[in-house]
Amino acid sequence: MKHLISLKEQSKKDLIDILKLAQDIKAKRNKGKLTPYLTNKTLIMLFQKGSTRTRLSFEAGMTELGGHGIFLDANTTQFSLTDFTDEIRAVMRFGDVLMFRALKAASVEKAASFNQIPVIDACSEKYHPCQALGDMLTMIEDSGDIKKIKKMGWLGIENNVSNTLKLLCAKLGIDIAIISPYIDKDSVDEELNKMADKSGHVIYTKDVKKGLEGCQYVHTDTWMNMEFFEKGKVKAEFKKEYEKRLKLFAPYQLNAKLIDAYAPSAKTMHCMPCHIGYEITRDAIDHRNSIIFDQAENRMHIQKAIIMWLLS
Ligand code: CP
Repeated sequence: MKHLISLKEQSKKDLIDILKLAQDIKAKRNKGKLTPYLTNKTLIMLFQKGSTRTRLSFEAGMTELGGHGIFLDANTTQFSLTDFTDEIRAVMRFGDVLMFRALKAASVEKAASFNQIPVIDACSEKYHPCQALGDMLTMIEDSGDIKKIKKMGWLGIENNVSNTLKLLCAKLGIDIAIISPYIDKDSVDEELNKMADKSGHVIYTKDVKKGLEGCQYVHTDTWMNMEFFEKGKVKAEFKKEYEKRLKLFAPYQLNAKLIDAYAPSAKTMHCMPCHIGYEITRDAIDHRNSIIFDQAENRMHIQKAIIMWLLS
């Protein structure tokens, strides 16, 4: 049975197939054609954390494919009362694919280990494969051909999104510069790093100017964990870490000045939600080079393709 967890399990051909399928389904939709390929199919959407894009894109995608998505909040269902393993095995009896936004990738892997139905990691602390594939779809559309994508930059913190994007680039033969002073320790997957690094396509640097040289795309993501804040204010227990990160990451902020100085022709990307004034500025979101909102929409197109690929 196929699962989509970290992209370690997919071959280059698998990844190209998914990307081509997404382009095909999107083109049909843009022509006003219906795509009822998954009638009577149910996607179970289990969330242990909040979401805007992931929930909307999966649910709307299933509607457009003629199927149905069922939203389950782990905090308001019986998951909080019982053994996870029993509950997830019962949950998977009701659908054809499970999409799981988990606190821990190990929980996604546990669900997949039963091989009852295909399982998708919809953003854990280590991986975000749907985001990475959606980002690649956005770059392919923008460039017109995957062969034209030679180099991208990842600016800021090394995390779950950079992990999967790095591995995806490595498998597709695209250079990626990881321009970062800090790794989110919880996101580290040594096996994934080895796979990506041995491709020769991953460059690590703390030097923004050097890293951005020749980049056609620059991508960033939040440096601050959302648990640092309460009602817009920094919680006392996280104040020290907040101050440390603010100082450390300031030179890595994606802003118009940085883009215009080091990568004036590079398209700017962010997986959203954007934290304005931290990793990105308003003038970078609204920059002439920004393709951020195309990225958001492409989550739906790529996920339709992922579900179809998993069920094929
Ligand atoms: N990028 C992303 O996964 O967005 P959400 O957290 O809103 O789902």
